[in-house]
Amino acid sequence: MNLLEHVQEVRNSLQADLVQVRLDLQSIEELRLKYSGKKGIIPALFQEFGSLAPELKRDVGKQLNELKREAEEAVQQLEARLLESQKQSEEFDPTLPGMLFNRGHLHPVTQTMNRICEIFRGMGFGIEFGPEVETDFNNFRALNFPDNHPARDMQDTFFIEDEILLRTHTSPVQIRTMMKRKPPIRILAPGRVYRNEAINPRSYCVFHQVEGLYVDEGVTFAEMKATIEIFVKKFYGENVNSRFRPSFFPFTEPSAEVDISCIICGGRGCRLCKQTGWLEIMGCGMVDPNVFIACGIDPEKYTGYAFGMGPDRIAMLKYGIHDIRLLFEGDIRFLKQF
Ligand code: PHE
Repeated sequence: MNLLEHVQEVRNSLQADLVQVRLDLQSIEELRLKYSGKKGIIPALFQEFGSLAPELKRDVGKQLNELKREAEEAVQQLEARLLESQKQSEEFDPTLPGMLFNRGHLHPVTQTMNRICEIFRGMGFGIEFGPEVETDFNNFRALNFPDNHPARDMQDTFFIEDEILLRTHTSPVQIRTMMKRKPPIRILAPGRVYRNEAINPRSYCVFHQVEGLYVDEGVTFAEMKATIEIFVKKFYGENVNSRFRPSFFPFTEPSAEVDISCIICGGRGCRLCKQTGWLEIMGCGMVDPNVFIACGIDPEKYTGYAFGMGPDRIAMLKYGIHDIRLLFEGDIRFLKQF
């Protein structure tokens, strides 16, 4: 075997030893002595190297120096690993109680939205989602808001470009769904919406809505009323009543606003309901024929109803939260309470 081959062989045996070596001072020192010690393998190789023919020296010398460095570095690394593991075991006190993992939970608004979805799912509604960045068409025009119509002022809008905006309500999901599917359609669309409003304890630039839409042949206002009344009883309790007040939305005709009897005073009048005995919880109405036309659905054949409600307010009522901003700040001290 020539010296070059010998060097390679020692290299292999070093690698094999490194896999097996135990991580204690003595084993590491033994390994060092075996290879790099005065009487070790590598110094012996250097001896042999001295008597090598000069023309062979360059190649072998390079390999040999590398081997020497490898062996030294390997020992250093082993010593560092040993030190690290000693430090860890010194720090580890097995008598201390175990660490508790924080499990977290769903945000109060998410809990509220899930409960709303659950009730409507039980009545045959599926769940749909839409993007928060929308087109002017889906958010306004298809919903029967003409350009420059004052109804747009009801919803102060964050525009991104001329035709692109942050959706001001979840109603564009109605449009998206009716564009891609033919009736019967029965969906719920929960999500975030954005409005450029003054920020105060009651309004924030981002909040949530849950939208409902039911389209089929022969859907009536009476059916909508019954469905919403069932929801109110299931969600707020059997003793809570609801009433429908005429209202206006461009995309529904006729439109109504739904109030429930105040969940604090039961209708007698208190500060929360401003002595009226009623709390407003959602808007609703029969889908306007113009909306059907914009989506390619025949308004002679189909009718439908839609509704939209704000789970933030519902969660605030339920948990007695007085400032909507708390719902969006992500303060753990606040969120932990639910
Ligand atoms: N999109 C309306 C709003 O944001 C709510 C609504 C939805 C009203 C569906 C009627 C029907 O105010």
